[in-house]
Amino acid sequence: MTVQEVQEEIRRLKKENDICILAHSYQAKEIIEIADFSGDSYALSKLAKTAPNKTVIMCGVRFMAETVKMLSPEKKVILSKSEAGCPMAEQMDVELINQLKEMYPGYTVVAYINTTTELKTVCDVCVTSSSAVKIVKQLESDNILFIPDCNLGAYVQKQVPEKNFKLVHGGCPIHATVTKRDVEKARAAHPNAELLVHPECIPAVAELADYVGSTSGIMEYAKKSNKKEFIIGTENSIAEHLQYACPDKDFYLLSTGLVCKNMKATTLVDVLNCCKGKGGEEIILSDETIKQAKKCIDVMISLGG
Ligand code: 13P
Ligand code: SF4
Repeated sequence: MTVQEVQEEIRRLKKENDICILAHSYQAKEIIEIADFSGDSYALSKLAKTAPNKTVIMCGVRFMAETVKMLSPEKKVILSKSEAGCPMAEQMDVELINQLKEMYPGYTVVAYINTTTELKTVCDVCVTSSSAVKIVKQLESDNILFIPDCNLGAYVQKQVPEKNFKLVHGGCPIHATVTKRDVEKARAAHPNAELLVHPECIPAVAELADYVGSTSGIMEYAKKSNKKEFIIGTENSIAEHLQYACPDKDFYLLSTGLVCKNMKATTLVDVLNCCKGKGGEEIILSDETIKQAKKCIDVMISLGG
């Protein structure tokens, strides 16, 4: 079968079986093309609430599929590839957060959405990279314990200097590999290009960027900009998607190491199998876990707009 034939079959099965396909923007082009919606983690969380279909297939990583399940427990939610997890989400456990809460009593625990559902049960509010600044500004508390990404936390801290932050050492093992040296090399190779980076990069890299933002933020910025050249400092699929979307502009990679194998684990054939009811993993969460963990997602959506 050709790629187009597989895509046609997926489209047919989606209709027949009342399936909605959500795809994170880091997914491959052929998956984005058959998705009902694609976007950053915040957009996907919001869409998860409103999608009318009985079944949702999440092409992304586990915490994204679990967020969909929490927001739509009545739906059948399938993670497109069982082994696609986000390593950052696994970096901290409930015991550690409880210890941190004892160390910093009265602090509001702000969790990046890239966390396990279990961890969300002991946090106060979730944020995504595109909503974090807006949400933290609106929190009543001036004392913020930000977990698990200290790089995103440092970025938010800089935008909200009026609040006190405690950051814990964790982060994305992919974005955190980018160095100042990578920036110097890319800038030297492309002196007219603007540098756009994700806030999961280390502060020393983010400080050198012309724009810091979420996956969707970077894409929107590059599409609207009058500039013609861009160095992209997030998962390398974004540079590829942008190159297709803006053929009159040039996109360069900040680092060839910016590849998330978990986000890349799903293939078009995996999606086809999920549509046939054969592949992926159905997300099962207990009612009690959903009740406890969903609270911080609900706060995120109410403050994030
Ligand atoms: P976004 O919130 O920008 O979609 O980021 C999610 C993610 O996992 C980035 O690595
Ligand atoms: Fe997790 Fe980093 Fe992959 Fe995003 S890019 S899913 S934060 S490991």
